[in-house]
Amino acid sequence: MNVPNHVAIILDGNGRWAKSRNMPRTYGHMVGCDNLEKICYIARDLGIKYLTVYAFSTENWKRSKDEIDGLMKLFRRYLKRCIKSSRENEMRVRIIGDTTAFDEDIRESIQVLEDYSKGYDKLHFQIALNYGSRDEILRAAVRMADDVKCRMLREEDITEEVFSSYLDTSGIPDPDLMIRTSGEERLSNFLLWQLAYTEFYFTDVPWPDFHKEELVKAIEQYNSRDRRFGSVKGEASCSKQG
Ligand code: IPE
Ligand code: IPE
Ligand code: MG
Repeated sequence: MNVPNHVAIILDGNGRWAKSRNMPRTYGHMVGCDNLEKICYIARDLGIKYLTVYAFSTENWKRSKDEIDGLMKLFRRYLKRCIKSSRENEMRVRIIGDTTAFDEDIRESIQVLEDYSKGYDKLHFQIALNYGSRDEILRAAVRMADDVKCRMLREEDITEEVFSSYLDTSGIPDPDLMIRTSGEERLSNFLLWQLAYTEFYFTDVPWPDFHKEELVKAIEQYNSRDRRFGSVKGEASCSKQG
């Protein structure tokens, strides 16, 4: 099995999963959170080098106060617990998204976790929190404009690589496989720039039920895809960009 270097997952369906069991949505988030912890061990064992998950979008603040409170409680607990799994998996953890919107103690826990794990490189784990791709691109554009204004960057030097380096995912290769669970087939503002040439896999399985067999199934499906990046397979490329 050819394991993709970078797998991105939109963790969807926690609420519906809980509802189908007559449980509150927050219960679905709790079980989804436990599943996230397990999937990191599985990804590492499979040899995946980069795993990026979408856990809370810039649009998710529109949810009820109860659900948001439940999610924040869960983030607080999860960020602390993640220290152990980062050590056991030798996993570097980074948060992408605009974390300035979170309470001070959550921001502190993020800092502690990122600092603690920064020397690990068996698995690079990115968690998208208060993440929206349009927001990320706008923030990058504003920072770039600032750098041009104060002459840290010349307009003529702006390339795709330079632009990428202003994104939250700076230094992280683009995903090879993007999975969305629970039946929806849209990006919901996830990694719009980074997913330009990524293979997509959609499954009806809700996130709390997405276990090892489901991840392996997605990778097997990915293996059957014919990735081309604009060229024709088997033909030598004559362009400089290859
Ligand atoms: C994904 O599950 C987790 C978050 C967005 C926080 P949902 O909460 O979107 O679950 P559904 O899609 O309503 O079932
Ligand atoms: C996308 O899921 C965001 C996360 C999984 C964190 P949503 O459930 O919020 O997306 P929509 O509203 O169905 O598009
Ligand atoms: Mg959803």
